Amino acid sequence: MKLVRLFLIAAAMAFGSSLPAVAAPGVDPSALDKSGNIMVPDNYRSTYEYLGTWAVAATEGQGSKEMHTVYASKGATKAFQTIGHFPDGTVLVKEVFDTTTGSMTTGTVSHPAKLKGWFVMVRGEKYAPKDSKLWANGWGWSWFDADKPKKTTSTDFKTDCMSCHVPAKDTDWIYSDGYQTLKK
Ligand code: HEC
Repeated sequence: MKLVRLFLIAAAMAFGSSLPAVAAPGVDPSALDKSGNIMVPDNYRSTYEYLGTWAVAATEGQGSKEMHTVYASKGATKAFQTIGHFPDGTVLVKEVFDTTTGSMTTGTVSHPAKLKGWFVMVRGEKYAPKDSKLWANGWGWSWFDADKPKKTTSTDFKTDCMSCHVPAKDTDWIYSDGYQTLKK
């Protein structure tokens, strides 16, 4: 019996090391497939935590040319407030919208119009497929066009994302200062 058990443990260890990265407990399986490909998670608007909104000013005229809404997977806000950064398994979703700007009774107002797509990040390099160029600095990184939520068009974190996130390097590559919900 003892020998059998030893054999089973040895076999599990041998096979375990050659298995592909698997979404560990805690990672939303609709955001990360078994091969480590990132996807826009299902139903995030009703099941994720709202983090905050960004308005990108128009380069000509008034209002905003884009609006961004950011969500985090369940439990991420509390964990951030406790440990000061997002823990492994966290999924972040940033929606990118075109806007409509017009005169309303509150003034000149922009609101989200057409969804252009999503930026999605998953924390935890342990989930990265071997040699993936989309996983770096503790995170997996991908962009999705509005009509393809399960298939990224990103190919390389370095050219697609990195330069723009360097200013947030000291805060785990996330612009966390912009989210009221993360403040205690
Ligand atoms: C043009 C510069 C730029 C590029 C390129 C870029 N980002 Fe960002 N990203 C930002 C800025 C600035 C913010 C926060 C302000 C905003 O949304 O305008 C942000 C916010 C985010 C957020 C919300 C969390 C946070 O950090 O506040 C996610 C998720 C995100 N980016 C993912 C990505 C991924 C994945 C890529 C590459 C596929 C990428 N970004 C490429 C500039 C960029």
